[in-house]
Amino acid sequence: MSEFTPVATVGQLSDPGQLLVQVDQQLVLLICAGGQYFAMDDVCTHDGGPLSEGALDESAVACPRHGAKFDFRTGSALTMPATQATKVHETKVEDQQVWVRLAE
Ligand code: FES
Repeated sequence: MSEFTPVATVGQLSDPGQLLVQVDQQLVLLICAGGQYFAMDDVCTHDGGPLSEGALDESAVACPRHGAKFDFRTGSALTMPATQATKVHETKVEDQQVWVRLAE
C-alpha cells in the first residue's frame, strides 16, 4: 500500500477549487469543496482528457474535451460520453497540510 504524500497546504486552494498535483510520478487532481478535500486521477475515462482543466460544480468535474462529468467524491461517470469511473484516492488533512494516498 502506498504512503500518504503531502501535496498542498490548507488555504492553497479556494473553496471550491482545484489543483493539479503529483504523487509518486502520477498526476492527481486535488479538489477542495465544502471544506473537504478529494483526489482523483487527472484522466477522463472516455479518451484521456485532463480533468484538472475542467469546470467544477458542487459535486462534479466536467471533462474539458467532450463534457463528461465525474463525481469527484466517488469517481463515478455521471454523463456521457464517459461510462466508466475514474479512480479516486484517499485524502487527509493534518497540521494544515493536505495529504494524498494513491489507491491500489
Ligand atoms: S475525453 Fe473526456 S469526455 Fe471525451
